Amino acid sequence: MAGGGAYVHHIKSRNYYEDKVTTYVLVSCFVAAMGGLLFGYDLGITGGVTSMDPFLLKFFPSVYKQVKDGLKGHKCTYCKYNNELLTLFTSSLYLAALIASLFASNTTRILGRKTSMFLGGLFFLVGALLNGFAINVHMLIVGRLLLGFGVGYCNQSVPVYLSEMAPPNIRGALNMGFQMMITIGILIANFINYLTAEHEHGWRISLGVGAAPALLLCVASLFLGDTPNSMIERGEYGQAKIILQKIRGTQKVDDEFQDLIDLIEVARQVVHPWKTITQHKYRPQLTLCSLIPCFQQLTGINVIMFYAPLLFQTLGFGGDASLMSAVITGSVNVIATIISIFSVDKFGRRILFLEGGIQMFLCQISVGLMIAMKFGVKGEGSFSKGEADLLLFIICLFVAAYAWSWGPLGWLVPSEICPLEVRSAGQAINVAVNMFFTFAIAQVFLSMLCHFKFGLFFIFAGLVTVMTIFVALLLPETKNVPIEEMNRVWGTHWFWRRFVPEDVVASDSGHNHKPSP
Ligand code: BGC
Repeated sequence: MAGGGAYVHHIKSRNYYEDKVTTYVLVSCFVAAMGGLLFGYDLGITGGVTSMDPFLLKFFPSVYKQVKDGLKGHKCTYCKYNNELLTLFTSSLYLAALIASLFASNTTRILGRKTSMFLGGLFFLVGALLNGFAINVHMLIVGRLLLGFGVGYCNQSVPVYLSEMAPPNIRGALNMGFQMMITIGILIANFINYLTAEHEHGWRISLGVGAAPALLLCVASLFLGDTPNSMIERGEYGQAKIILQKIRGTQKVDDEFQDLIDLIEVARQVVHPWKTITQHKYRPQLTLCSLIPCFQQLTGINVIMFYAPLLFQTLGFGGDASLMSAVITGSVNVIATIISIFSVDKFGRRILFLEGGIQMFLCQISVGLMIAMKFGVKGEGSFSKGEADLLLFIICLFVAAYAWSWGPLGWLVPSEICPLEVRSAGQAINVAVNMFFTFAIAQVFLSMLCHFKFGLFFIFAGLVTVMTIFVALLLPETKNVPIEEMNRVWGTHWFWRRFVPEDVVASDSGHNHKPSP
């Protein structure tokens, strides 16, 4: 996924490459970025659709009844939408994505990046059509599974494609750009839900519209050239050189071409990347590549992304107001991601993580308190207009904090801390853990809300505290550190230094830098 930098190859001679950004590269990257947009669209569309009455009535009549009973005061507010089948509708996509991501890395390596992108687009296309034309719940669930396969394939191949196509000087920006496409996808979905909600078959449009960018991705990936890296990996040296000349817009690509061949040779020598990453000296990378995606999801962001409209309705907002609220939080998400892109190399990762963590903590506590005071344990009551506005404002502050910290950095940091020999394994762990926790949150949120009531927001506040302390103590600053010099970051860190072999620390001690916290 947005871990495009995972495949960024930093080599000394890169400064001598021709770093021109050609139209060919821009067009290819634009098309490939559709993968991020599609992922975002799927993240954002579900919540709104599951709050539409005609959709519930058709596929989940028991939930519909539950909600209407709730409105008549027969049921605890917190449990209105708690239904296993409805939850499965949301979460099944991420389980399928998790499974597909395990296969996708082999497809991407053996058959090439564009084959994986094409397959991803195809899965998206069929999944969106099945959902848009669904006549029973089985079609819905099969469609969701196919969309999940699409997410798995695209998230694996698109970032790799982007970072291999782009000249090195814009690779970092592309990594964050992919996250921005995700947020734009979420926003478009929120907006389409808002527009279609009033129509009897609006949910069909919401679910089906994803077919359009999917078709574009599919058709375009047939015409896109594969990356030179992928061609060299598959032994097509002649073609690889031609395409490299084309994407760089010059005949002078000999240095870069030779570096690519050397790098791919090095990568080939690592026969067991999975085993390699479990070695003692890679403990910092293994720990961070597993914990960062887990923490990213435990911020609770997807409670907002998946269930904001249901949450707002649960708390007494009208249907329209709920969907409009999702559009507002979606816009904040995009804007704050842009802020992050421009500040990450200026202020550094740690400041953003720490500030974001504190802000999210305060927001979770405030939301918990507001709901506790209004609904209590019994779950009876509703917000006045002013209170509802305040709640929405606090949720926006929460989304903003996430979107300039854990959102993009949750993908960027794991991708920049792994040396080449464990980069693909680190990235695969990152994607799989992320998908697993996305699935888990989608699966348990509604029933946890039913059981823990407002206390659930205090639980999230507790989790945010843990992850912020973790960052303060254990996440070294990686701003402006070239990937090939990352060892000195670990070598001078109070905790991680014990895992770095002594010769590496000694050879780096000549560098003039302060120990990281
Ligand atoms: C996460 C998604 C989340 C999105 C929100 C991404 O980085 O992986 O799970 O929905 O951010 O913008």
